[in-house]
Amino acid sequence: MSTHASPYAHIVGWGRYAPAGVLTNADLEKMVDTSDEWIRTRTGIRERRVAAAHETTASMAAVAARRAIAVAGLQPNDIDVILLATLSPDYWMPSTAALVKEAIGNTKAFAMDVAAACSGFVYAYSVGQAYITSGMARNVLVIGAELLTRFLDYTDRSTCILFGDGAGAIVLSAADTPGGGLGFELTTEPSGAYMIWLPAGGAKSPPSQATVERGEHYIRMDGTQTYRFATRTLASTALAAVAKAGLEPADIDLFIPHQANIRIIQSVADGLGLSMDKMFVNLDRYGNTSAASIPIALAEAVDSGRVKIGDKLVIVAFGAGYTSGAAAISWTADPARGALAESIRPEEITVRPPLDWEPVDPIPAALVEILARPGSPEPGAKAAEVHA
Ligand code: UT7
Repeated sequence: MSTHASPYAHIVGWGRYAPAGVLTNADLEKMVDTSDEWIRTRTGIRERRVAAAHETTASMAAVAARRAIAVAGLQPNDIDVILLATLSPDYWMPSTAALVKEAIGNTKAFAMDVAAACSGFVYAYSVGQAYITSGMARNVLVIGAELLTRFLDYTDRSTCILFGDGAGAIVLSAADTPGGGLGFELTTEPSGAYMIWLPAGGAKSPPSQATVERGEHYIRMDGTQTYRFATRTLASTALAAVAKAGLEPADIDLFIPHQANIRIIQSVADGLGLSMDKMFVNLDRYGNTSAASIPIALAEAVDSGRVKIGDKLVIVAFGAGYTSGAAAISWTADPARGALAESIRPEEITVRPPLDWEPVDPIPAALVEILARPGSPEPGAKAAEVHA
């Protein structure tokens, strides 16, 4: 590892991956007592992506990661550290980051997962920034990846309508010129610990027939309390990061908030005195992808022409813990480089399976029909490539 400290860590690569399966509000109408109208007006979500049986958190993460490395103009082995934020790892152990290291063809990085729920990507980004500015690393891969559709109770209308699958990644590189993350703010509020949680499977309540019968292997959430926390915290967390960067909210060209609920994003805009055209929104197409939400949105914002060199961006998230996190970023990369991600095809990347072990079918019964129909193309991909 390098021992040369650099004052800055620039974002030099970005990439995203969303599985082809689409779960629409109309599909959910057939599963639970809900309506497209309720979901759209209360959350802003129209559809979310669903991973197929052959996909995992690691496989989606590896595709997003290879794309980010290609955009950076680096080779997988140029990466010194792999940080993967997730609340839906492939296994309790090993870390999903370790699986991703092998899948992307890296032989030298150390790799670990970061657990801070929906704020995980911002937390992991801050860790990567610290490795670089302390001189412990030159190139850090930061990934947010989630496969939440396998942790949802498709009889609980208050949670199953919200979440989706996907992955996003960035590459941070040491730099001597100003740019990259200029101010970070991270908070943890344990009074909200049981407001979003997954009761069983851990040491407190190991998985058993009884925990499964009680449905304790599914995500539970008090939506109203979480909504209150989010609207109270997001603007103040973002403001603190902006202030630490020596900036004012009016200096920010684009806010990229955690994509949980359009009404929460609207309240952040109100709290910051900004119009909605300063807020990037893509939750209508992905739902809430937890730790993957911000890196997917960031990559999509850059690739859709919303970001140019010199822009000031803020990413801001909240989630279970409760946690919140924000970073104020000075963008330094040429957005046109995003096209280099197209060289990375998902079918060329595999996560090595264990020997002599087959998992039971991972697909929830409620999703079997949805995954059997022809998929939508990956965002940004040519339809022919995806269906080939
Ligand atoms: O990444 C962090 C993850 N969590 C979040 O971001 C969640 C934050 N919270 C929210 O986004 C919102 O609280 C929800 C979207 C989850 C719920 O919206 P709400 O406006 O807070 O609704 P509510 O929970 O106050 O429920 C209002 C009504 C209730 O019926 P009654 O008691 O008024 O008769 C619910 O039972 O809406 C009902 N309801 C639904 N109706 C149709 C709850 N879910 C649904 C549904 N379809 N899917």
